Amino acid sequence: MSFDFSDLHVFVSGGSSGINLGIAEAFAGAGARLSLMSRSAGKVEAAAARLRGLGAEAAGYSADVRQPDAVQAALAAAHTRFGDIDVLVSGAAGNFLATALGMSPNGFKTVVDIDLLGSFNVLRLSHPFLRKPGACLISLSASQAFVPTPFQAHVCAAKSGVDMLTRVLALEWGPEGIRINSIVPGPVADTEGLSRLAPTPETLEAMARRVPLRRLGSRADIANLAMVLASPLGEWITGAVIPVDGGISLTGPRDFAAAAEAAAAGRSAA
Ligand code: COA
Ligand code: NAP
Repeated sequence: MSFDFSDLHVFVSGGSSGINLGIAEAFAGAGARLSLMSRSAGKVEAAAARLRGLGAEAAGYSADVRQPDAVQAALAAAHTRFGDIDVLVSGAAGNFLATALGMSPNGFKTVVDIDLLGSFNVLRLSHPFLRKPGACLISLSASQAFVPTPFQAHVCAAKSGVDMLTRVLALEWGPEGIRINSIVPGPVADTEGLSRLAPTPETLEAMARRVPLRRLGSRADIANLAMVLASPLGEWITGAVIPVDGGISLTGPRDFAAAAEAAAAGRSAA
């Protein structure tokens, strides 16, 4: 199925790599104008250049989602350049493997600040710049939001908060014609997120075997749902938390003990 998004301005927070960049590429391929935001000016400019190489209009902005003033400035600059935001993807996140006892209060806070407070900042500050009615917002969640998962206390707490934020904003902003949904990716091949949870070939294979559909996801698997949600096909969907995960979230908590050991060994060897 092909989509025509040539009228749309798509803003992607955390859009300089991985799944979020995959979503940006999919919208760029369908004609949209892209604004990308992430911390590293070099990474986000390289990602925007990559989209321009695909023939899209694209710009990159450097901002940390934990800093509201910087986020506000990026959104304002994107709005000045490409107009009202039709699709906003809130996907910036951080993760590492550690038990609750193995992470400091600042380690816990860091992930909650990026994933949850950062989502709040991006979504809340985007409001004046959104197309009303018509905007489609997408939060990137994770199965840790509803599957209690050892070694992931920070991500579990943060992403369950992200899904609640999605639902509350669906209620508060629905009357203005703004929709918001969470996409819950399963393990997606060749991403930073997966490399942190499955850092060795053995742990990666075990992860793929665990998926009921018996393969890891691709960035396109996730982008496909984002495009459906942004298209007229999604116009009555809001406040939904939708897994795109080959069924893995049905299989209960994963065991990250071996992965955590391998990651710790990698850190001490470096
Ligand atoms: N185990 C335990 N604690 C860890 C840790 C680990 N593997 N990695 C970082 N921390 C702790 C640090 O020790 C620090 O706590 P302290 O001050 O008490 O020592 C705290 O987390 C903050 O670390 P810092 O490196 O200053 O944070 P940052 O803001 O620069 O980076 C991270 C945030 C740690 C999440 C970093 O990994 C990151 O930028 N990730 C983005 C990419 C990513 O994670 N992608 C996957 C998305 S799902
Ligand atoms: P990734 O490649 O590491 O992407 C993270 C993005 O967020 C990068 O663009 C990074 O760029 C940016 N970022 C990180 N911290 C930031 C901050 N404080 N402020 C602004 N930008 C920040 O991640 P990924 O693995 O593709 O994951 C993408 C999303 O999908 C995340 O929300 C993740 O939780 C979710 N997810 C991923 C998987 C998976 O298998 N990968 C599974 C489930 C859910 P900078 O470094 O330049 O800031």
